[in-house]
Amino acid sequence: MIQPWSNGYVADVAYIEGFYVQQSPMRLALACHIGGVAVDLPEPDDQACYLELGCGMGIGALLTAAANPGWQVIAVDYNPAHIAVGASLARTARLENIRFVEADLTQFAESAEARSMPAADFVSMHGLWSWVGGDVRAGIVRLLAAKTRPGAIVHVSYNALPAWQGAIGMQRIIYEAGIRAPGRSDLQAQAGLALARDIKAAGGKYLVESPLASDLIDTTGTMATEYLSHEFMSAHWKPAFHADVAAAMAEAKLDWVASANPLENFNELMLTEEQRALLDRYKDPIVRELIKDTCQPRQLRHDVFVRGARRLRDDERDAAIARLTLMPTIGESELQTKLQVPAGTADMSGPLKTMMVAAMRGPATIADLLALEPGRSSPTELIGVLVGSNQCQVAMRPDGLQPDSADRLNRVLASRVESIAEARPYSGLASSRLGGGLSAPPLLQFIAGRMLCGEREDRAEAWIERLASDILPEKHDKVREVVNTAIEQRVPVLRQLRIVPE
Ligand SMILES: C[S@@+](CC[C@H](N)C(=O)[O-])C[C@H]1O[C@@H](n2cnc3c(N)ncnc32)[C@H](O)[C@@H]1O
Repeated sequence: MIQPWSNGYVADVAYIEGFYVQQSPMRLALACHIGGVAVDLPEPDDQACYLELGCGMGIGALLTAAANPGWQVIAVDYNPAHIAVGASLARTARLENIRFVEADLTQFAESAEARSMPAADFVSMHGLWSWVGGDVRAGIVRLLAAKTRPGAIVHVSYNALPAWQGAIGMQRIIYEAGIRAPGRSDLQAQAGLALARDIKAAGGKYLVESPLASDLIDTTGTMATEYLSHEFMSAHWKPAFHADVAAAMAEAKLDWVASANPLENFNELMLTEEQRALLDRYKDPIVRELIKDTCQPRQLRHDVFVRGARRLRDDERDAAIARLTLMPTIGESELQTKLQVPAGTADMSGPLKTMMVAAMRGPATIADLLALEPGRSSPTELIGVLVGSNQCQVAMRPDGLQPDSADRLNRVLASRVESIAEARPYSGLASSRLGGGLSAPPLLQFIAGRMLCGEREDRAEAWIERLASDILPEKHDKVREVVNTAIEQRVPVLRQLRIVPE
């Protein structure tokens, strides 16, 4: 069901809340470091501006604002139901440095509101580009051209080609059958999916033979209906080639730098030796990315662009990365040294493992870690592996104190967690040391909330009772185990990040 103002995008069903670490300022800065591009990271008190476009409920923008109280955060979305949730959370947490703006990006660049905004240091758009029409994309490019400062970092995620090639027909079946069905968009998406499933069951050749379409049809049964309607029911759903996104961004003087997913920048982990030999024949980044996307199709790309990329020599890049500090985001006992990567299983044994184990003990610079095993790894490899495997994040302020704004938002987010069985998706906790959010499930938000109210781990039994109040008694032991494991493994991480008191 399309609203008169929604220009073909789904607006009658709210999108799911979520936090995506690729949108964090430090993750964007890291992509620049790995891509060999200079970064001028704003200081806490600089008049920096972080802009999120198509922000949904704006959880990432809220975490960024709370963790960087000296910066200004602006979150734009045209759906008032989304803006209302974000603005209400900001109000409850008394965040004064974030503004939720209800505006259509088709013409936002020309508005008085946009004209009065500062030029952004960071821009992020997740789940927007390949779901909106050409007029919206053109409006976004005009906004980026007018409202990014030289050196600004811009993140855009999108459904990518050729990976999505095999499912274009599937989306069209879901959309065309769905849009003719009665009811809200979530019901329409289900009606469209039901037809796709029936066609597949009847041996419909395309849906049976396209591995991507076939797998998607099987897995959608477990996905949130809100997600499915926003994923498949937009009239403008159109996966994009990286080359076309890069061409659009170039109109705003933005140069492609790297992927916000660190591991994707390491050809040794992404491609076979034979594929790397092919890649090495080309210097042009557009052709190289096309080769990579053809050899190892990426469904969702997280591209990072810079307005006026200043390219560094390899030694300058390595020196910049060596100065970065890593903070573990998992417990020491959770460390994984065997990683599943597109090129196979990467087994980090020997010296690399020693450095990874050391990284789990607490804040350490890349230079400190490399010094443990001189000459056995490189700054890019070590940081790529530890951050890319989601076992560490890069600190923005390694010695920073947690501001009250971060505590307030973390308390507000925690206060919404009532039960361990809650369907609320993975979210985050604000950390000034990280300069943004730590990915955190509702359980960890709950624990942080209790500890921010002065309780300690010895209250675990009361926490378990509260979290299990709607769970069958025979399952309480399982809840106890999950809560105790989280306390043992993750509370030390929260303490190190100063998200909870000592
Ligand atoms: C898939 S959702 C992603 C939301 C959020 N970035 C996230 O990842 O949770 C896409 C968002 O873009 C917004 N949107 C779509 N078209 C828009 C437009 N023309 N102007 C402003 N926002 C738009 C939708 O309301 C929706 O919140």
